Formats: sequence, C-alpha cells, structure tokens
Amino acid sequence: MRMYDLIMKKRSGLELTKEELTYMVSEYTKGEIPDYQMASMLMAIYFQGMTDEETAILTDCMAHSGDMVDLSPIKGIKVDKHSTGGVGDKTTLIVTPIVAACGVKVAKMSGRGLGHTGGTVDKLESIPGFLTDIPEEKFFEIVNKVGVSVIGQTGNLAPADKKMYALRDVTATVESIPLIAASIMSKKLAAGSDCILLDVKTGSGAFMKTVEDSTELAKKMVAIGEHNNRRTVALITDMDSPLGNYIGNALEVKEAVMTLRGEGPKDLTEVCVELAANMMYIAEKGSLEECKEQVKEAIRSGKALEKLKEFIAAQGGDVSVIEDPANFEQAACHYEVKAEADGYINHINTEEIGIASMVLGAGRETKESIIDYSAGIFLEKKYGDVVKKGDVLGVLYTNNEASIESAARIFKKAYTIGETQPVYKPHIYARVEANKVTMF
Ligand code: URA
Repeated sequence: MRMYDLIMKKRSGLELTKEELTYMVSEYTKGEIPDYQMASMLMAIYFQGMTDEETAILTDCMAHSGDMVDLSPIKGIKVDKHSTGGVGDKTTLIVTPIVAACGVKVAKMSGRGLGHTGGTVDKLESIPGFLTDIPEEKFFEIVNKVGVSVIGQTGNLAPADKKMYALRDVTATVESIPLIAASIMSKKLAAGSDCILLDVKTGSGAFMKTVEDSTELAKKMVAIGEHNNRRTVALITDMDSPLGNYIGNALEVKEAVMTLRGEGPKDLTEVCVELAANMMYIAEKGSLEECKEQVKEAIRSGKALEKLKEFIAAQGGDVSVIEDPANFEQAACHYEVKAEADGYINHINTEEIGIASMVLGAGRETKESIIDYSAGIFLEKKYGDVVKKGDVLGVLYTNNEASIESAARIFKKAYTIGETQPVYKPHIYARVEANKVTMF
C-alpha cells in the first residue's frame, strides 16, 4: 500500500477502506509516513470530508494508536465529560462533584489551557498543594472512595492524534468536522469511561461559530461514541459570551465554589445543572427530570460542595481556599475598565476576552509560558446589560502591572455597546443523542 495512492483516492472524493485507514494511522504514528504526505491527506479530507463510517474507523485507529485505559478496577458506571473549550468554562469543577455526590463515578483526564482558552488542570493547580499528576492506582482509589478524581493526561494516550493535531494546527486543517470529531473522540474512547457527555460550544469564543456546525459536529461525535458502545449525549451550549463572570484560574475556582453554594451566575448555573443531569441520565440514574431534581438537591443540601472539598483534599489540595476563596493569594494589581458610552452590551468578543486574560498572565501564549494563578478578569457587565458612560465593564487582575495597558485595550475593544437592547440568546441551544436532536 502507498500513501500516495491514498491521497489521490481521497483527493478524488472516494471513501478510504478500513485497511487503508489502519495503514495510514499506524505508519504515520511510527514515523514511516512523512508529515508532508499526511498534511496533504488532511487537506484532502478538509475539502472532501469523510463518511460517518470512515470517521468512525479513523477514530478507532487513532484511539488504538496508544494505550487504552482500563478503568475496570473502578466499580460501577464511569461517566466522562468533554467540553470543546472556551472562555470562563469552569463547568468540570462544578458538575463532577455534583454527579459524584449523586453516586455517579467520574474518572477524568483533563488538559491544560493554551491561547485564549483555559484548561481544567491549570484551574485545579491554582489550589495550593493540588496534584494532577498522581499514580494510576491512587487515581482509581480516589474514584472508588470519593467518586471523582481529575488528573492530567497520562501515558501514551492517542499518540496519532497528538501528531495529527500538531500538523493540523500549522496546515490550516483544524476546522474540519470529521477531523475534530475523530480527534476528540479518539481520546475519549482511549480514556475508558462507559458513558460520555459532550459539551459542544458555539459562538465567537468557540471552534464552531454557528449552531448548525456545532450540531453537525455533535451528531458525528455522538455517532462515534454509540458505534463504540459508549452511551453518548451532547449539549450545544453558548460560547458567544464568556461563561459566568470570572475568567482566570483561581478566580474560576472561586466562581465554582459560589455556584456549588447556590450563589453562581444564572448562565453558569443553568449550563451546569443541565450538564450534570445529562451525565446522570446516561449513567441510568433516572429520567432527565428526575436527574435534574437530584442535581438541584445536591446543590441545595450542600452535598456537592462537600464532595468538592473531599475531592480536593484527596488530591493534596488546601481546602481552606474552598471554604473561603479569600484565602487564595490575591493579585497585586486591580484595574477597572469603564464604559465610554451609554447603551446596552450588544456583543462581547469572547476570544478577545480570553486573549486579554492571557495577556494578564492567566493563560499561556506558548506551551512554555508560566501561569499567574491569581490573574484574570471579572466581568461586571454581560451581554444585554444596560450601561452608563463611566460604569465599570470589568476588573482586570494581575501581578504584572506592565500587562494592564495592553489587556485593557483588548478588553475594551471586545465590548460592543449599542443603543438598543439586543435579542435574548439562550445558554443552551440543543441536546443531541443518537438519531435525535432536541432544540431548546
Ligand atoms: N480539540 C481537540 O482535541 N481536537 C480538535 O481537533 C479540536 C479541539
């Protein structure tokens, strides 16, 4: 078999066979197929697309290119959750203790942030002492005992995806629905959970800018999960505005605690309740309505917050910052950005807000950048809010005073203030399960 012929075949819009995809992924992972040929294939896929069958096979080959995590030492049904990423997305910190408090096990591997998006591992590491790099036996032990553990990606998980994603990043082939679906689902399948809840973001801060594209991606990923006998459901949620009011690692932990106390912002609370209820639903804990009631009760009773503390303590974290987030080390500099006109917030360019937060030190410009855990942004005004000239739009936090000027400029530009109140936008657009899309 020759890679040249496979590129020609895909370029002509034909379907690749299982043997061909297996050859392509395994030889590329071994380094026998050069980057320039794989880059050409990725571009051919970008233009010609892939059938559902091809995408499922590609995903399976990528998942099996490295370790397949065996979660069988953990008793009961294990549920995973994946977000396609965004700004202010601290949902994992909120929903995993909720579902664990309701008896659903979560053994989760998470990533670090890069560029305008944050990562759960960084948020957790903002808690003094918290370890995201623990041995596998300890990980299993914590999930069995506490119900939830979150660690950084370990071992040799889907190495084909690591190579292909790096190549897509520099060859303008990231935005291909079958390639994104295969990339995300290969890691989810390799991570070993029985059920997968996908949070597919949509809008200016997301990979997918429209609800239609996000739904298309969600359908593909759900089909791949179900094809591999993993119960999979996806929610399409808004990322046209940052989620919640805080962006930045320790600031997001603080907001997660507020939400588990029942004092979180409406958008974040609504999305988290829906995500948690769906995780419980796929783990067969009742009807969607029953699961939603259990989720609300776990928050009301304080059990979910207690579970968060238990989980943080089990991984070495200092629980005093959860008991009172004022115990987090505070940033030395605060700067208020003020509105320059009267009106309504008509749009917030979410990607730009993520970049402003990165400039302040909360995110990574490159993989090597060092994070300032106390840096970030508080959004005083959100989409649809009324403002008067001179009102505070947001507060910037950093230990690097020199970053404030440029972060404030980016922040200000990200806000569009108009004369009329914009139309209401939902926080959740749709729910996608096998062969069924329900619009909210
Ligand atoms: N996240 C991934 O892991 N892969 C993609 O292709 C896009 C987002």
